[in-house]
Amino acid sequence: MTPPRHPSRRDFLHLAALGALSLGERSLLRAESPVTLATEAMTRPGAFVPSVAMRHPLRRCPEVSASGLQLLAKPGTAQVGGGVAAEGWLLNGSLPSPLIRVRKGELFDVELVNQIPDPLILHWHGLTPPEGGDGHPRFAVNPGARYHYRFPLENRAGTYWYHSHTHHRVALHTQKGIAGMLIVEDDEEAALGLPTGEREIPLILQDRNLDARGRPVYAHPNIMEGHMGTEPFGNGILHPFLEVDSGRYRFRVLNGANARIFRLERSDGRPFTLVGNDGGLMDRPVSVTSVDVSPGERVDLLVDLDEVPVGESIMIWSRGFPLEGHIAELGGQNRHQVDLEMLELRVMEDGPKSPPLPATLLPVGGPDPAQASGTRRFDFTFDRDPLTRSMEAHSINGVRFEMGRIDEHVPFGATEIWSFVNDGWFPHPVHIHGTHFKVLSRTGGRGQVMPWEGGLKDTVLIQPNERVDVAISFTAHRGLFLLHCHNLEHEDAGMMLNIQVE
Ligand code: C2O
Ligand code: CU
Ligand code: CU
Repeated sequence: MTPPRHPSRRDFLHLAALGALSLGERSLLRAESPVTLATEAMTRPGAFVPSVAMRHPLRRCPEVSASGLQLLAKPGTAQVGGGVAAEGWLLNGSLPSPLIRVRKGELFDVELVNQIPDPLILHWHGLTPPEGGDGHPRFAVNPGARYHYRFPLENRAGTYWYHSHTHHRVALHTQKGIAGMLIVEDDEEAALGLPTGEREIPLILQDRNLDARGRPVYAHPNIMEGHMGTEPFGNGILHPFLEVDSGRYRFRVLNGANARIFRLERSDGRPFTLVGNDGGLMDRPVSVTSVDVSPGERVDLLVDLDEVPVGESIMIWSRGFPLEGHIAELGGQNRHQVDLEMLELRVMEDGPKSPPLPATLLPVGGPDPAQASGTRRFDFTFDRDPLTRSMEAHSINGVRFEMGRIDEHVPFGATEIWSFVNDGWFPHPVHIHGTHFKVLSRTGGRGQVMPWEGGLKDTVLIQPNERVDVAISFTAHRGLFLLHCHNLEHEDAGMMLNIQVE
């Protein structure tokens, strides 16, 4: 075997001379001038200093519609940047999985064909289909088998996504490449005139570790804090960059990582305009300089580049932060302490002047806490195993997931207040299937509802020592749904409950 290598500058100059390079590849030439970049950057206050010499063009996910779509899950190889091909388990040969774009009211008609050597079921994170379309792990199909999803799509316009929900295997399947974005559009949202086409950037953020040949590996899953990688990936590309103009872009950002929380900031300190999150657009735009996105969460951000001089770059990075709680007792490891350079934006030319933003976006609706008829409490802990009393285990209310056990019976249509309490050592992004909820309050820890937690959510982060109260109501369908931690190693370890809506 010839070991893969990074192509040299000479290879590129040669190919460029032959006219054999695509636009993206030609921009790699510009990528290879670390010294100049760093020197220039250091003379400008607030500019970032690039940490790697070689960046790779961000890829756009291939797009498909949901009418009569077949998704073939199969082992395959995919480019991850710089000519490195990685083996994975892919849907329709694509890394990330194809982006499914669908209009509200359409029939969602998708057939999964499983040709990976593992049982598989897909879940449409954030959609609220009937239970048979939700991808509960009890529906996982064996290698060689198929699963047909067919339901009318009833959800608001927004940024959703999909991934494997095979019990004990979600972390591995996601690392292998099974995860894609799902965008719902509707007329109300289209009427607002937010950036579309080339100015809409779906962006799946992940972190990976690399083997000696530069390929992503998932070797030692860390069952306590979950898997965290040292290298940033965007849409399956290592250390990505994107060529832009000085106009406005809409970034639909998904945290598709197993365990890492990204704290997104611009390297020039300018704010993002937050317009939406898990459940679609919020009722008004909010200006934020820093946004936390935990695994499973989405944020819809407008990025204005009109103040970045043509020829310069900014970095969208994830800034390190301390963790509250007892992490030090585990040996002092806090892998959230590091900065990661997620995506470099290179401003290549003048863009259209951005029009002023509307003061309001769309009415959000959702459950009314004043109508609440009940409360429930969920404790997220890292405890002695309730059965063996020996091994430590992630659990909710002291129990771990069992396929056939119903943990909560919830009346259809009733509004309740649910409390998520983190008594343990690790952050837990709490996710619920079958509905969206409203975040009402946070006590302990950060002590407030964060600006990106307005609107409708399906995933909310509880840091150590925090309690978050939400108003929730299941109004879409009766059936068996799930509540779980979206740290994928925690979920696989059983930090998940069955919720029967009846
Ligand atoms: Cu995104 Cu049950 O998961
Ligand atoms: Cu989900
Ligand atoms: Cu967790």
